[in-house]
Amino acid sequence: MTFQIDAVREQFPALREGAAHFDAPGGSLIPAVVAEAVRDTLESAICQRGSTTSAERRTNEIVLNAREAMADLLGADPGGIVFGRSMTQLTFDFSRTLAQSWGAGDEIVVSRLDHDSNIRPWLLAAQRAGVVVRWIEFDPATSEITIEDVEKQLTARTRLVAITAASNLVGTRPPVKEIAQLVHENGALLYVDGVHNTAHAFVDVEDMGADFYTCSPYKFCGPHCGVIAASPALLETVTPDKLLPSADTVPERFELGTPAFELMAGTTAAVNFLADLGGAPSSSRRSRLKGALTAIGTHEDHLRGVIEEGLAAHPQFTVYSRAQRRTPTLLFTVDGMESREVSAALGRQNINVPASNFYALEASRHLGLGDTGGLRLGLAPYSSTTDVDRLLTALYALI
Ligand SMILES: Cc1ncc(COP(=O)(O)O)c(C=O)c1O
Repeated sequence: MTFQIDAVREQFPALREGAAHFDAPGGSLIPAVVAEAVRDTLESAICQRGSTTSAERRTNEIVLNAREAMADLLGADPGGIVFGRSMTQLTFDFSRTLAQSWGAGDEIVVSRLDHDSNIRPWLLAAQRAGVVVRWIEFDPATSEITIEDVEKQLTARTRLVAITAASNLVGTRPPVKEIAQLVHENGALLYVDGVHNTAHAFVDVEDMGADFYTCSPYKFCGPHCGVIAASPALLETVTPDKLLPSADTVPERFELGTPAFELMAGTTAAVNFLADLGGAPSSSRRSRLKGALTAIGTHEDHLRGVIEEGLAAHPQFTVYSRAQRRTPTLLFTVDGMESREVSAALGRQNINVPASNFYALEASRHLGLGDTGGLRLGLAPYSSTTDVDRLLTALYALI
């Protein structure tokens, strides 16, 4: 399947502003169909979920459609799709709830590579529960996590392992499927941060073995909300704090208050947008998503190769994204220049390359970049060779 980049770009109104966007890991641009779905939902008669009035039925349908869409995207059960405000909010909620069953002497494991949203909630929950925290380290020279790095931290007391499926800082994709096997042999739960991964991979949470898989639609052309996928049977064993009159069913009992129905409709539109990049509408949405994410991956990896070659040609650039398996996300610095300065200089030319630790604070420090971090180049389905040319030309001019 050929990737029709011009046709893809036409669907993103924000590209008309003329900037070259390498900031997608912070939040991708939104295609018109997603914005329209959000607006149409807000303009239509919706209320609370129910089956009596037309507004109730429409609202109910929006929720069920969104669960189906996310289940198709992730290879999950729609009955185990939970929506929330953000991945961070959902992870805080789940960490507090899961920690209720932890006791003194129990242990949990987090990774140095992760975004802080898959570290801090667990650390705080562990502190309150009196639970030991162990750390999976990564090798700063390769940015890799090996299966041995994980194995070393597991004990008979491990209750939960929290790890990323892809680092938003350097792009590393740890071997999550093998990690899941190990974690389950140890009788623990695996909580996977899929926020960065989901934009770049065809995900199958069941095959991956994640007990909980989180993601955020705004990273894959959708609106600003968060999602957790888990098996309904597992969710039945988890009892969050909730209001007395609110539904005690799964997954509703995890969605506190009235959900953002318009963002759910936008999420469905984002999944359909991606599926439409994946071939004939006659096949199932899941198989079209597979085609789409494979084509997006090929497109992004090609551009990544061009950028990597361009940076490798000049010793003034240091690239920290070195893992064998990784997303098209490159962290780099420029010798003798502050990353923020470089970002600002590129910004003046309408080239968006942010500089930060990107909330992967532990990883940034472990790489020797402190709290400042570096420059992050991220690719998206709408990234083009023209964008890459503009970027490399501007960077060369700077050095
Ligand atoms: C890898 C990763 N995990 C988690 C998050 C937090 O997601 P949210 O903004 O939905 O809380 C981000 C946000 O940038 C991220 O990149």
